[in-house]
Amino acid sequence: MRLLVMGPPGSGKGTQAAILSDKLNIAHISTGEMFRDAIKVGSELGELAARYINKGELVPDEITEAIVKERLGQEDCRKGYLLDGFPRTLTQGRALDSILLDLRNDIDCVIYLDVPTQDIVSRLTARRICGVCGAVYHLQEKIPREEGVCDLCGGKIVQREDDTEETVRKRLSIYNDATRPLVDFYQQKKLLCTIAGNLSIDETTERIMSGCF
Ligand code: AP5
Repeated sequence: MRLLVMGPPGSGKGTQAAILSDKLNIAHISTGEMFRDAIKVGSELGELAARYINKGELVPDEITEAIVKERLGQEDCRKGYLLDGFPRTLTQGRALDSILLDLRNDIDCVIYLDVPTQDIVSRLTARRICGVCGAVYHLQEKIPREEGVCDLCGGKIVQREDDTEETVRKRLSIYNDATRPLVDFYQQKKLLCTIAGNLSIDETTERIMSGCF
């Protein structure tokens, strides 16, 4: 199965992608996570990506497209994958079409998490992540068993640098201008499965599993 999950920042893409890729036993490919990993190890890609991410801006299309193309060609993607956070512009959407053509792949479904803007800021300012493995937590919705410690790897739980209120608002405005047009792009391809954003994490997963594929 080849899936794509899209939605505004903080709509739960990463949370659902982690659950679904585990349930379906397919690769979880998050461009945001790939950039954060590169930043952590201090690579050239990481230094470049940090300049954009920390300001809430998108990393240029050609850089993002190249890392996705390389990743989708890897062995573990043969049995399926779930793309989280890519494409994010119409240019990236068209680039993905051409990557898929080369790979002789098709996307089975685009899951669109339709969360209203007013819910986003409070969700993201209360988000915490594991500084080691990247697992996602929330101060009210997904609390780690031990305060400040990751359930999965024991790493320290921190706040993402781009989760300040000012940066979140900028990310939302860029989402509305650059990414939202992809909703129509995938609607026209009859691939879109829209999930309302006012559901709990578990209800959202159930709705996707029973309604999207
Ligand atoms: P990325 O990491 O992809 O950030 P994002 O799209 O802004 O999405 P988030 O990770 O902020 O949110 P999410 O939708 O995954 O929500 P989550 O599950 O964490 O990208 C970061 C940056 O990298 C971008 O800003 C950009 O600079 C760059 N980048 C990445 N991809 C790029 C691309 N293709 N092109 C160019 N640049 C790119 O959930 C949020 C919180 O809510 C969590 O605390 C969670 O526990 C909680 N939560 C989840 N679901 C629910 C629910 N149903 N109810 C209540 N709380 C919930």
